Amino acid sequence: MRDNIAIDGPAGAGKSTVARQLAKRLGYLYIDTGAMYRALTWKALKEGTKVTDEAALVDLARNTSLEFKEVAPGEVSVYCDGEDVTRLIRSPEVSRHVSTVAAWPRVREEMVKLQRDLAARRKVVMDGRDIGTHVLPEANHKFFLTASLEERARRRWQELIAQGNKFSLEEIKREIEERDRRDSQRIVAPLRPAPDAVIIDTSNLTPEEVTEHILKTIRKNC
Ligand code: CDP
Ligand code: CDP
Repeated sequence: MRDNIAIDGPAGAGKSTVARQLAKRLGYLYIDTGAMYRALTWKALKEGTKVTDEAALVDLARNTSLEFKEVAPGEVSVYCDGEDVTRLIRSPEVSRHVSTVAAWPRVREEMVKLQRDLAARRKVVMDGRDIGTHVLPEANHKFFLTASLEERARRRWQELIAQGNKFSLEEIKREIEERDRRDSQRIVAPLRPAPDAVIIDTSNLTPEEVTEHILKTIRKNC
């Protein structure tokens, strides 16, 4: 599992955009671990499972099938119980509740098991919050992407506006700030860089520049 690439960082830092580009360039499978927590949250909201009930969420996780299907190099669709939920799990309602679901230790155990199984089958670029510290601590290549809160909120806001949603930049900023706080302060596997991660501030970089920087770093270390 050593060749895998771990990419962590807060919301809007550019992890998934860059992870997709890397997967495409290297022929690795892209695994978006946030999508797994999002899919479980989506199902919990749909079925009326309380996001504050750890035991019920663990039960739900054990009775849910989560799959990634590669539709093109670097492009992956997420399936929950056979249904394509790739778009549905990006809703603002899921975004508001996902960090509460992801804070439960036993829910995380279930997700981490799946993540490690996926990484054992094929070389992966995996992005999330705890990949370098907890899910794939033995990965040779670890990156922690970050950017100012303003820039990250602006990026997310632009995406939502382009999709026809009407949120103010302030609302998005508050949601991201709250999620970052929950993700950084939880007891199990909080958001933080692994000691051996390369930290990249992407505030003033394009996704292509970040990808090139990562590829150069990987080549140098091989
Ligand atoms: O794309 P965005 O940065 O908005 O978030 P995401 O990667 O889809 O992750 C959604 C949420 O799932 C995060 O805010 C965390 O609460 C949780 N998450 C986690 O706890 N651990 C991971 N490895 C990935 C996501
Ligand atoms: O996965 P994460 O939440 O870290 O961020 P993302 O969903 O990959 O990126 C959020 C948005 O910022 C996307 O629309 C990107 O095109 C844009 N962006 C970026 O990802 N990286 C940059 N260096 C600049 C912009």
